[in-house]
Amino acid sequence: MCGLVGYIGDREATPILLNGLKRLEYRGYDSAGIAVLQNGNIDVLKRAGKVNDLETLSALHPFASTVGIGHTRWATHGEPNDQNAHPHVDHTGTIALIHNGIIENYSAIRRRLERDGIEFKTDTDTESLVQLISTFYDITGNLEQSVRLALKEVDGTYGIAVISSREPGKLIAARMGSPLVLGINDGEYFVASDASAIVHHTRQVIFLEDGNIATLTRDGYEVKTIGDEAVEHKIEQITFDIEQIEKGGYDHFMLKEIHEQPQTIMDSMRGRILKDKGTAKLGGLRDVVSALEGARRIIITACGTSWHAGLVGEYMLEQYARIPVEVEYASEFRYRSPVLTENDVVIAISQSGETADTLAAIREAKLRGATVLGICNVVGSSIARETHAGVYTHAGPEIGVASTKAFTSQLVVLSLLTLMLGRTRGFISLDEGRKFADELLSIPDKVREILEKADEIRELARQIHTANNALYLGRGYNFPTALEGALKLKEISYIHAEGYPAAEMKHGPIALIDENMPVVVIAPQDRIHEKVISNIQEVRARKGKVIAIVNRDDSTIEELAQFVIEVPTTVDFLSPLLTIIPLQLLAYSIAVFRDCNVDQPRNLAKSVTVE
Ligand code: AGP
Ligand code: GLU
Repeated sequence: MCGLVGYIGDREATPILLNGLKRLEYRGYDSAGIAVLQNGNIDVLKRAGKVNDLETLSALHPFASTVGIGHTRWATHGEPNDQNAHPHVDHTGTIALIHNGIIENYSAIRRRLERDGIEFKTDTDTESLVQLISTFYDITGNLEQSVRLALKEVDGTYGIAVISSREPGKLIAARMGSPLVLGINDGEYFVASDASAIVHHTRQVIFLEDGNIATLTRDGYEVKTIGDEAVEHKIEQITFDIEQIEKGGYDHFMLKEIHEQPQTIMDSMRGRILKDKGTAKLGGLRDVVSALEGARRIIITACGTSWHAGLVGEYMLEQYARIPVEVEYASEFRYRSPVLTENDVVIAISQSGETADTLAAIREAKLRGATVLGICNVVGSSIARETHAGVYTHAGPEIGVASTKAFTSQLVVLSLLTLMLGRTRGFISLDEGRKFADELLSIPDKVREILEKADEIRELARQIHTANNALYLGRGYNFPTALEGALKLKEISYIHAEGYPAAEMKHGPIALIDENMPVVVIAPQDRIHEKVISNIQEVRARKGKVIAIVNRDDSTIEELAQFVIEVPTTVDFLSPLLTIIPLQLLAYSIAVFRDCNVDQPRNLAKSVTVE
C-alpha cells in the first residue's frame, strides 16, 4: 500500500534508498526502513516515523554497501511500530524482504511454520512470506526459485523486493496487484513501487505486470513469470515529470483515488469472504462477536463522509441483521447525554482514526459501559487504539481531502459485517449469503465499468458547472448516497448542494426548483423505483434539470431525464458502492471546470483534530 525501492550497482546504496523513500513521502506512511548487504551480512535499520528519522539513525550507523532495499510502510497488519516496520528478515538472518500489499492467507502460513518451530518476531502478514521463502531456501539454496515457490502458496497482493546474504549479487522483485517498476542504467538497476523514487537516476524503465518476477544483478536483469516462463517486456522512456508520476498520471490525487476504487474495494474484502459458507469473517471482531450478535442496539457514530457510510450501515444492518441501529453525528452524540447500556455496541467510523469529535464520542461511550468498535483506515490511529476491537478498511493512504476510496471501503466493511451478523442471527440464508458474497466480489468490475464513463460525466459537468445550487435526491440505500454526492460537490466546487430523501422534496425543497436547478436523482431498479419516478415527475413539472443515475435500459427515466448515467445492477444494499462513483466523478469534473483546488479545498483539512 505504500512505497518500496531497491538498488544494485556500484554506488553507495544507502543514500539512493533514502532519497528514493523521500520521493515516495507524498503518499503518507507510518514507518520506514532499509536493509543492505554488508560484509556478507544483512544489516537492517528501521523505525516508526518519518524518513528523516531513519536518515538520522542511518547517520549514526553508516553502511558501506552497493545493494539494498528500502520501504515506507502503511500498516495493514500490526501496529506501526519499530518492530513491524519493513524490511523483515527470516529466522536465520539470511534473507531480507520488503512488501507492499496484503498477504491474505498469512495466518495459515504462520501457524504452519510456527508448528515447525519457526519463531515470528512481528505482527505483520509480511513476515509469513519471508519465513516461507526461508524454508524453501533451506532446501533449494536458490533465492529466485525459493521466492517463486513461496509466491505460489501466497494469496493476496504484493509488490516485493528480496535480498540474501548468500547471494549478495542479486535482487529479486515480484508483483501481483501492487505496482512495481524496474529502472535500468549502465551497470546499475533499480526497483520501485512508483517511478518517482528512481526517475532522477534513470528514465529507462520496465513496468512489471502481475505475475512477473525479476532478477537483477550488476550484469543485467531477467523478467519471467512466477511459473518460470519467459515473458515479453518492453523498455519504456519516462517523459513526464515527478509531480505527474506521483499522481499516477492523473491530474489530481482525488481523481487517482476515485480510479483506485476497483482495487481498494477488493483490498477491503481481501481474505474476509467465505464464499462457500456464504458469510464473512472479520478477524478484528473475534473477541466481540457475542456482544455484537446479542446487541440490544448498535449506535454508529462518525462525521462527514464517514457518517454517510454509517447511514448506509444502518439500512443494511436493520434489514439483514435485524438489529436496531442509530446513526449519530459524533459531535452531537457526545454532548447529548446518550442513554447507553452494556448491551449496546457503539461503532465509530473514521478514515483517519484521529477525528476529535469521533474520538470524544467513543471515550464517552466507553465511560457509559458500551462495547466500542472502530472501522478505521489508518492502522494504529487513536480511534483504532482506543476502541475495544475493530476492522481496518485497507483503502491505503488517502491524500485528496475529499474522501472517496475511504468511503467505499467503509461501505464494504459494513456490508461484510451485515453479511456476518445476518448469517449468524439467521436472517440471511445460506443461498442468499452465497449470492451476496458473489455480488460483493463482482463489485470491483462493476466499478471499473462505471469509471469508463468519466468522459461522458465530464461532458455533463461542462454543461452544469456554472450552477449556483444543486439538489441530490435518493431513497432507501441511496438517500445517504445523495447526501454524500452533495457533500462532494460542496466541498470541492463550492456550489451549494443539498441531499434529500427524494420524497421529502415536496415538503420544502421543491420551492427551489426552476430551470436553473440541476437535480441529481439516484434511481436504480429497486423496490422503490416507481416512487422515485413520481419524484422525478415532480421535478420535471417545475422545469428542473434532471440528471438520473439509473440501471441499464431504464426507458421510463430516460424519457424524463435530461441526462442519464447508467450503472450496473446489484443487490439493494450494495447499490451505493456503485451509485456514488458517478457522483464522485461529477463533483470532481465540475470543480476542475470551476478552476478549484480539488485536492486541497479551501477551509478544509484532511484530518479534523479539533472539536
Ligand atoms: C470528506 O470528504 C470530508 N473531508 C470529511 O467530511 C470527513 O469525512 C470527516 O472529517 C471525517 O473524517 P474521518 O473519516 O477521518 O473521521
Ligand atoms: N501488509 C504489510 C504490513 O502491514 C505491508 C503494508 C504496506 O503495503 O506498506 O506490514
